[in-house]
Amino acid sequence: MDIKTLIKETAAKVEARLNELLPAEDVQPCTLHKAMRYSIFAGGKRIRPLLCLEAAKACGASDDVALNAACALETLHTYTLIHDDLPCMDDDDLRRGRPTNHKVFGEGVAVLAGDALLTEAFAMLASVPENDRYNVRDYVAEFAYQTGSLNLVGGQVLDLEGEGRQLTAEELRTIHNGKTTALITTSLRLGGMAAGCTQEQLDALTAYGKCLGLAFQIIDDILDITSTPEVLGKSIGKDAQVQKATYPAVVGINEAREEARELTASARAALDVFSDKRRENLLAINDYLLKRDY
Ligand code: IPE
Ligand code: IPE
Ligand code: MG
Ligand code: MG
Ligand code: MG
Repeated sequence: MDIKTLIKETAAKVEARLNELLPAEDVQPCTLHKAMRYSIFAGGKRIRPLLCLEAAKACGASDDVALNAACALETLHTYTLIHDDLPCMDDDDLRRGRPTNHKVFGEGVAVLAGDALLTEAFAMLASVPENDRYNVRDYVAEFAYQTGSLNLVGGQVLDLEGEGRQLTAEELRTIHNGKTTALITTSLRLGGMAAGCTQEQLDALTAYGKCLGLAFQIIDDILDITSTPEVLGKSIGKDAQVQKATYPAVVGINEAREEARELTASARAALDVFSDKRRENLLAINDYLLKRDY
């Protein structure tokens, strides 16, 4: 299957399950459920669910075992986007090709829609089947660690504090690894864990995720300069405007591209423990994300 078809079919499968898992729009409070669904079903590449499901398959399981984990990842990711766009954070008007959540529902509801998605994500994760190696306690501990103050939320704080400051490449890497790499790494790890993976497989998925995740944010930084709102579905040029700490700002755009290429090569090498057949899709995703234009 080519990568575009794989992405499309995975998105459809994840969206169908999300539709079952999330309260309907006519459930009270309707405004809240509308706001949650507005951002979830606005599109989005569904990369984290894709990585989760493909990690489960690479470890020899059916991707069904990881489907609720995939939904949990996308639900939590969507909360981070709603909050990231708020006026008190990146203050963006456009997301996934639509007005941002707070533009439509107001800031109060947008904050609470994010809160509710974050909470729902843990409920989804708690319904992931257990196996001989991993139980729900393991899933929850993993997810909480990677998305809490030591990683995702912490990275977002450092990102805000980095505005207008000249950071070293190492400080910037710490921000990116927190705000973005952690959730991408846990997408792969949770897919592997739901499949009952071996420690060797988990280590390989982790190494792959760390490289691919950082490359992903470097490319996001580059696209903020080189893309258009029509293609990207979000505003461009904002990072430079508010003097965000980004790869192009700290090391220059050519060096940023080179680092993304090197990380992509390292991600590829990390999958050596899997057979050619088992790692095929993860390799294709890795290549695709380096060349993506949105
Ligand atoms: C955007 O993530 C936020 C980052 C961590 C860079 P995506 O580029 O995956 O956004 P969607 O989900 O496709 O909208
Ligand atoms: C977002 O990074 C990371 C999280 C939402 C956790 P950015 O602020 O660069 O993401 P975009 O460019 O707004 O999607
Ligand atoms: Mg941000
Ligand atoms: Mg942002
Ligand atoms: Mg960005």
